[in-house]
Amino acid sequence: MDIAGSAALVTGAASGLGAATAAALAARGATVYGLDLDKAVAAAGPLPEGVRLLAADVTDEDQVREALAALDADGAELRLAVNCAGIAPSARILGRKGPHDLDLFRTVLNVNLLGTFNVMRLAAEAIARHEPDENGQRGLVVNTASIAAFEGQVGQIAYAASKAGVAGMTVTAARDLAQFGIRVVTVAPGIVDTPMMAGFGEEVRAGLAASVTFPQRLARPEEYARLVTMIVEHDYLNGETIRMDGALRMAPR
Ligand SMILES: NC(=O)c1ccc[n+]([C@@H]2O[C@H](COP(=O)([O-])OP(=O)(O)OC[C@H]3O[C@@H](n4cnc5c(N)ncnc54)[C@H](O)[C@@H]3O)[C@@H](O)[C@H]2O)c1
Repeated sequence: MDIAGSAALVTGAASGLGAATAAALAARGATVYGLDLDKAVAAAGPLPEGVRLLAADVTDEDQVREALAALDADGAELRLAVNCAGIAPSARILGRKGPHDLDLFRTVLNVNLLGTFNVMRLAAEAIARHEPDENGQRGLVVNTASIAAFEGQVGQIAYAASKAGVAGMTVTAARDLAQFGIRVVTVAPGIVDTPMMAGFGEEVRAGLAASVTFPQRLARPEEYARLVTMIVEHDYLNGETIRMDGALRMAPR
């Protein structure tokens, strides 16, 4: 699918992978509508040309519908949705203070899994309204899992469950949406140098970099963004979760 001239929705666009993706898509001629929480939108710095940020919580049906209505009002034809919004708090099933907090588990699943699903279903509805291209394609959804979906570390139980859910939806979503000419592809990044990772000290980050097979460094947000642009342009990629991890296989801790 052509990026230039299309409209894209990118969630989590105020930071990290979402911000890099929004910038990369805009640089290739897309009109990008980024969604993020209102406090993140308020704190965002200057945006690249072609990127607009809208405040919306991905878990909230009305807020996502409102954002899609803003696109419609601009006359933008949505072709692409990229789900980057996510959270990664850590807690063990059983820790010193007792069992994993159930509300925390619920919150992680709500943002990472339900939020991704909510945006996917509403974006698919919007994409399905437009005419297909000469190949019968109307657009696509790119979701973000994590290699924690396959080998979550100690303390990642809620995160791993949520990301396994995202990976697990992929082929079913591609099958559900095939009749509308909409592809669904998931990216499972390894460790990417974003604000989500900034909380870890230099020593931990160096240790993480050393654990990567090759190249022995953290991935760059721009590398995730480049993969998204490749997926958009590659019409035969569908229903698959692609690892982007430098051959890293996570150790237990
Ligand atoms: N950084 C990594 O190493 C890594 C690895 C694997 C997967 N991921 C996944 O990639 C995605 C992006 O991560 P990142 O590193 O860019 O994180 P980040 O913290 O830099 O950015 C995440 C963005 O999502 C937004 N967000 C959180 N909850 C939201 C909600 N309910 N509604 C709307 N926006 C919300 C945040 O405000 C933030 O701007 C996440 O899903 C994360 O799990 C990241």
